[in-house]
Amino acid sequence: MVRETWATRVGFILAAVGSAVGLGNIWRFPFITGQEGGSAFLLVYLAFIALIGFPALLVEFVVGRRTELNPVGALQELGSGAWRYVGYLFVVTGFIILSYYSVVAGWFLRYTVIGVTDGYTASAASPDAAEALFGSVATGLDSLLFHALFMVLVVAIIAAGIRSGIEVAVKVMVPAIIVLLIGLAAYGFTLDASAEAYAYYLSPDFGVIAENWTSILPAAAGQAFFTLSLGMGVMITYASYLGEDRNLAEDAGIIVGLDTAIAVIVGFVVFPFLFAAGLTPGDGGAGEIFVSLTAAFAEIPAGRVIGTVFFAMVGIAALSSAISILEVLASYLMDEFGVDRVPAAAGLGVAVFVLGVPVTVDLVFLDLLDLFADSILLVLGALLLALFVGWVASDAAREELEIGIGDLGGLGEAWIWVVRIPVVVVVAVSLYLGVVEYAEFLTEDFADWLAAR
Ligand code: PFF
Repeated sequence: MVRETWATRVGFILAAVGSAVGLGNIWRFPFITGQEGGSAFLLVYLAFIALIGFPALLVEFVVGRRTELNPVGALQELGSGAWRYVGYLFVVTGFIILSYYSVVAGWFLRYTVIGVTDGYTASAASPDAAEALFGSVATGLDSLLFHALFMVLVVAIIAAGIRSGIEVAVKVMVPAIIVLLIGLAAYGFTLDASAEAYAYYLSPDFGVIAENWTSILPAAAGQAFFTLSLGMGVMITYASYLGEDRNLAEDAGIIVGLDTAIAVIVGFVVFPFLFAAGLTPGDGGAGEIFVSLTAAFAEIPAGRVIGTVFFAMVGIAALSSAISILEVLASYLMDEFGVDRVPAAAGLGVAVFVLGVPVTVDLVFLDLLDLFADSILLVLGALLLALFVGWVASDAAREELEIGIGDLGGLGEAWIWVVRIPVVVVVAVSLYLGVVEYAEFLTEDFADWLAAR
């Protein structure tokens, strides 16, 4: 079976941007920014993207292009000893992340439908009404059905393959996201509250950074990895479908630039809406954006249309990310076991759906999976890969990066040293903090939940 490749360079770049831009940019970024102090966090986050995210993205790219294999096969080909098994971690992480990512994405589809059928005024009546609406969407039959619908869309795209599935889909979806987002930001600019919102978002207070660096640093590092889809082999897999030798550093620069620009623009959308409704960013967690934004959409002019467009855009962004995760899993089954693409996609889709079902029953399972995958597995995967490429396979990595670029001289060496020390240290510290946080969750919130059964 000949391995498929991307038809065009644009196709590969858009697929990677589609993967990077998702719930992480739109749902997670604003509330993390809100929780961590607004502009202060933004500054640290931008620094981390450039210093840590960009080199780490190149690491995944060289591994994928060199081996032309899924993450499990890639690590088995390159690594010896225990390194051979790191790829399995990526597959397990992808499986878990996709299961709840799909449930949350389903909520956005449901809110899009609510915009079309009823509008958001009901949830503006009182905070309780908005909460109640979110509750009815987040768990129960609705949640289950929209989780299923979302997985059907993901499977359909992956079953159609690299060129006629992923590449066609992202060529429509990514431009749509960008156009809708810029339109929404322009609308946000017209709101009276925009000046206050921009001030909050754009004038960094260095005092805030100095006071809160212990929570800002890990939050910024975690967000940088999550938003660039690093730590679970997505970028290894996408780079494995590169047929020709291109300048990977240039491609990575474009991808990082677009993902970051989109996250920053999301702030220009979400914060004016929140301030317009008299709300403070970052007050709540996962459900907050639904509760507070629907309240905002009920207040502002043309809020129903704007809201519907907003939720649909997030649904599209989530879809272009979710397909990248299913592709990691499917490529593993196809490469290693010779399973055909369609049964691989369908079988995995069913399995992921089943794993996500508990989340639709009780949101405690969202925290249980999200915290574990996000702050432990993803970071652990990124750490092991950075250690492996930086310290064990650095010659091969540098050689691979130079293909398509030419002799990098000292820059290649600099890249390896950035991966060896700053990337490893930042990721290791994040992992430590992630483990502490998860232990707290298990012994406190989760223990309380179990005790209440
Ligand atoms: N980068 C995606 C986002 O920001 O929503 C999420 C994601 C996709 C994380 C794929 C990890 C991943 F492997």
